[in-house]
Amino acid sequence: MSLRIAVTGRIPSAGIEMLEEAGEVVAWDSLEVPTVEQVHAMVKGADAVLTLLTTKVDDAFLDAAGPQLKVVANVAVGYNNLDVAACARRGVVCTNTPGVLTDATADIAMALILMTTRRLGEGERVIRSQQPWQWGMFYMLGSGIQGNQLGIVGMGDIGQGLARRAKAFGMKIAYSNRRPVAPQLEAELDAQFMSMEELLSTSDVVSLNCPYSAATHHLMSTAEFEMMRDSAFLINTARGPIVDEVALVTALKTGQIAGAGLDVFENEPAVHPGLLECDNAVVIPHLGSATQETRAAMARLAAHNAVNVLAGVEPPTPIPVG
Ligand code: DGY
Repeated sequence: MSLRIAVTGRIPSAGIEMLEEAGEVVAWDSLEVPTVEQVHAMVKGADAVLTLLTTKVDDAFLDAAGPQLKVVANVAVGYNNLDVAACARRGVVCTNTPGVLTDATADIAMALILMTTRRLGEGERVIRSQQPWQWGMFYMLGSGIQGNQLGIVGMGDIGQGLARRAKAFGMKIAYSNRRPVAPQLEAELDAQFMSMEELLSTSDVVSLNCPYSAATHHLMSTAEFEMMRDSAFLINTARGPIVDEVALVTALKTGQIAGAGLDVFENEPAVHPGLLECDNAVVIPHLGSATQETRAAMARLAAHNAVNVLAGVEPPTPIPVG
């Protein structure tokens, strides 16, 4: 009997073609996000499921799929939408797509640093709303980043990619991580390991590049914004709930920090209305990996992971449990 593979969102055809060689594919074919009920109906009887980050994989999902399910391949590097422990209890392997979106996401983090420090969103809004403007020595001045400290929270692949870019822009690199990176890498990036407290109180720009988990929920809240300099900027390209958005809005409105560049939101796709009132916030709709090349590579890698697990090959990057 042929294997059944479900895909819970629209993905590039390169991924679908790989899956079709391995079995019968049922793919969600709309740009709308399917409801939980639609997902559960789609995954019934599947041996493998490719999930997007908008798909919640929990016990209800696993019950709906059935005991034959072998692999959940997330088409994303972040996997906070998967209950990895629940999957492990049922022998379901979970995979993600590390590596292929490092450059695209580091590019967006760097772009947000430039957009926030140089007030590019604000500038664009002036022109688009046809407000009068005039070049002037004091008109819409931003902050230069050369010689300033970028504090990277989470020095994984994307954090390192951002460090390389920021270094090329003349920034000094500090980082906070569960443990220091290898000394050669630290030397290459000229990066200084710091406690979170030191990083927050000394950085000109703080960029969140860590995974989201219970441990990083609201990692940035009132106390952390108080530690930051009033001239500092916060960048988040990781996951929205790492930041307490209510506390962020207060910090932006009271001048506790100078600005924020956000690609992700606490209750995505909803954006806290207070953020929209802040001219010092740059807000973009989760575009970190949104290039055609990257999305195709993510689809191929997720398909490859699923097909490998179905064929009994251990995936190179299974998601660890716990
Ligand atoms: C990821 O892969 O986790 C990204 O957020 C997708 O854009």
